[in-house]
Amino acid sequence: MGHMCMTLLSCILITSLIVDAFEPISTSFIGAGACYFGNKLYKYLYETCDVNWIRFNSSNLEVALNKELFGQHVASRVVLKTVTGYMQNPNPKKPLVLSLHGWTGTGKNLMSQLIAESIYHKGMESGFVHLFTATAHFQHQKHLETYKEQLQMWVKGNVTKCPRSMFIFDEMDKMQPGLIDSIKPYLDYYDNLDGVSYRQAIFIFLSNAGGEKIAEVALNFWNAGQEREEIELKDLEMAITLSVFNNKQSGFWHATLIDKHLVDVYVPFLPLEQKHVVQCGLAEMVARKMKPDKEVVERMAQDLNYFPKEHRLFATQGCKVISSRLDYYI
Ligand SMILES: Nc1ncnc2c1ncn2[C@@H]1O[C@H](COP(=O)(O)OP(=O)(O)OP(=O)(O)O)[C@@H](O)[C@H]1O
Ligand SMILES: *[C@@H]1O[C@H](CO)[C@@H](O)[C@H](O)[C@H]1NC(C)=O
Ligand SMILES: *[C@@H]1O[C@H](CO)[C@@H](O)[C@H](O)[C@H]1NC(C)=O
Ligand SMILES: [Mg+2]
Repeated sequence: MGHMCMTLLSCILITSLIVDAFEPISTSFIGAGACYFGNKLYKYLYETCDVNWIRFNSSNLEVALNKELFGQHVASRVVLKTVTGYMQNPNPKKPLVLSLHGWTGTGKNLMSQLIAESIYHKGMESGFVHLFTATAHFQHQKHLETYKEQLQMWVKGNVTKCPRSMFIFDEMDKMQPGLIDSIKPYLDYYDNLDGVSYRQAIFIFLSNAGGEKIAEVALNFWNAGQEREEIELKDLEMAITLSVFNNKQSGFWHATLIDKHLVDVYVPFLPLEQKHVVQCGLAEMVARKMKPDKEVVERMAQDLNYFPKEHRLFATQGCKVISSRLDYYI
């Protein structure tokens, strides 16, 4: 910032030397103004780790969840409460750790995007938001040790640069066992580690683990004639933790994360029904600046696969294929 200011200032000084003889007072006034403007411009162009770029607004998150995330009343409520509580706490004892679970195409990535947008001015584009995907970043089994070191270095480096950093780990169920263990100390209740405090950082894990059990619970509610909206977090928590504990093959599930209670909250995503798929289709049309056409979208939704076969209750691929499918129907 100072550097740019200096450059601007010297530029102004040269100009003022030329006009000095005429009007010394007003030129130096312009000089100060240009410097101030330069600072403003700098702040506007370069993302900095401060309130200019990082500012949480709970009502914005609430509005976004209500408007953009369909059929996920449990996840919306839990995330809004947890994130708001954490962000409003001036002295959190540990970083925020969320684990999002559910069937494919139900909005887990969308949710992490909405959280990022509620905190960072640039949302997912922010330099302080880091997305790691198991299959893209940590693909090869034989490089596990390298990955572990790298991940530790990245998390530490980025939190040192900006304490309010966000790390999203996608496809946790495809992550090699042990990898997440390498960052476990960062998730814990430490004041600081090697002079770095991780208490302002946010970690979000995404996975399909528990998706089938969650669908089972939703189906049981339906069978019992209960409304989807009656499903509560406590009805689903068991479903998630059971499947998470039982799948020791992959991801961080047999890691010490779970028995050490480092995950603040497990967030369940319900399988989507046809009416939610229709909502996704209409939203997609609006996003494409088209006139939303319910008839078209319903035709598309009708042709998708649903389970269980006899009831056609839940969309097998959620809203995931909507944007590509829609092309065939318009
Ligand atoms: N509940 C939802 N409300 C609105 N849009 C949704 C919802 N679920 C999915 N979508 C849309 O469908 C697409 C895929 O969703 P997303 O990537 O969030 O799914 P996911 O849960 O991460 O799936 P996967 O487990 O396969 O990664 C996105 O374009 C998203 O906007
Ligand atoms: C949050 O955003 C809303 C609307 O954008 C605004 O009215 C409100 O003042 C903001 N709240 C805070 C605490 O910044
Ligand atoms: C921050 O994380 C990114 C990966 O998202 C990595 O490439 C970069 O080197 C890290 N920065 C530091 C300072 O460690
Ligand atoms: Mg996803």
